[in-house]
Amino acid sequence: MTEATTTIGKLARVTGVSGDGHRVYFELRNGNSGWFDQDGDDFSTGEVIMILGEDPSQRVERVDANAWPDDSWVGVVKIKLDDVTVIEASGRYRKVPTGADVPYEVGNTVEAGEVQGVVRVLSEEPIKYTDLPAIDEEVVNRFRTGGSSDRPLTFDDFGGLSSVVKRARELIELPLRRHEELARIGARAIKGVLFTGPPGTGKTMLARIIAAQADAAFFEISGPEIFSKWYGQSEELLRRIFDAAAEDERAIIFFDEIDSVAAHRDDDAHEASRRVVAQLLTLMDGFDSTGNVVVIAATNRPQDLDVALRRPGRLDWEIRFPLPSVEDRLDILIKTARKLQTLDPLPHKLVAARTDGWSSAELAAIWTEASLLAVADNRSDIFIEDYIGGFERVERQRKRIGHMPTKTGSAA
Ligand SMILES: Nc1ncnc2c1ncn2[C@@H]1O[C@H](COP(=O)(O)OP(=O)(O)OP(=O)(O)O)[C@@H](O)[C@H]1O
Ligand SMILES: [Mg+2]
Repeated sequence: MTEATTTIGKLARVTGVSGDGHRVYFELRNGNSGWFDQDGDDFSTGEVIMILGEDPSQRVERVDANAWPDDSWVGVVKIKLDDVTVIEASGRYRKVPTGADVPYEVGNTVEAGEVQGVVRVLSEEPIKYTDLPAIDEEVVNRFRTGGSSDRPLTFDDFGGLSSVVKRARELIELPLRRHEELARIGARAIKGVLFTGPPGTGKTMLARIIAAQADAAFFEISGPEIFSKWYGQSEELLRRIFDAAAEDERAIIFFDEIDSVAAHRDDDAHEASRRVVAQLLTLMDGFDSTGNVVVIAATNRPQDLDVALRRPGRLDWEIRFPLPSVEDRLDILIKTARKLQTLDPLPHKLVAARTDGWSSAELAAIWTEASLLAVADNRSDIFIEDYIGGFERVERQRKRIGHMPTKTGSAA
């Protein structure tokens, strides 16, 4: 329902009307609120409306009250007055009518709905976030990746995009390695770098390589995970990760898919995401400028990022990852082939020429397909026909999911 409202208009409910009847206050499904001035429409509290235009003063329509789902939620009673009760739910205060049917007190954990008020008491005690698994060192270390077993990736594994690599080393590796000297000079430390570019262009891969090569601890946080898995604890988790990183000699904190956390904090942003962004801003502003920690955030939707994150001292440096050029593609194919058992010579030039608009990840996928073909044929080496077969398979997949095999085509 809320999804649809972004295209066909926004569902809202009138929460109050000013004394002179002119100003109408409303809330949206996501809990945000707003107001508009009415002339002659006579909206009243409790009515459900659809906001159709950018500016609600211009286009608002009454809709059936049933359009507003009266779902219930769980929270802790904070204030109980004769007429209204204030309940804290998911970090937000909500006002519901005080009813006479269910006895409850301040501090109770209750199930409640906007219209029916408290429907039952779930516990005499408030639920606390501390009931959730504690965020301890072990949890924090789960975000620390790389290191030990696997052969660390090196810059030699990363094909093409040489100017991107050069810039990233300059902005991240060098400052991390020489942060003490830079601090002595008095240079402002580089705190955050934003990696932008289409999917599969090597953003995550390069961040990992830099961490390994700079001998830095690497904390990898995926945007969606921080909400799904760590809901209610995301801020604490971020704090602990930043603390842990600061203790390291050098560290990179990598936020993958930052857009999922830090979309504009506007109408449609959820309360939880707003709090996480606020926390992130505080942490970025807070960590001192000794320069041993660099935050890298990756996104393929930079336009969706909250502008506050781009201010000086935050993610104010940007490195753009383009789709690979023909020379880049050749280099990527050669480098990715190196890790495999192949029978030379392979027609890399031909494939590079025929993969305009492909992302690096799509090029790498050729090898997966080629290996499957080789194995199906009981071989442990990739032959030229596997290579071409792999290329054709990936090409077909790209077409199926709507890629344009042109220069402007972007990988999705
Ligand atoms: N320059 C490159 N050289 C060699 N392999 C690459 C390169 N770029 C990407 N790859 C391959 O593509 C895979 C996906 O790349 P990666 O995950 O870094 O892309 P991404 O830009 O982070 O994508 P997304 O935006 O979808 O997260 C890598 O694991 C690697 O196998
Ligand atoms: Mg990535």
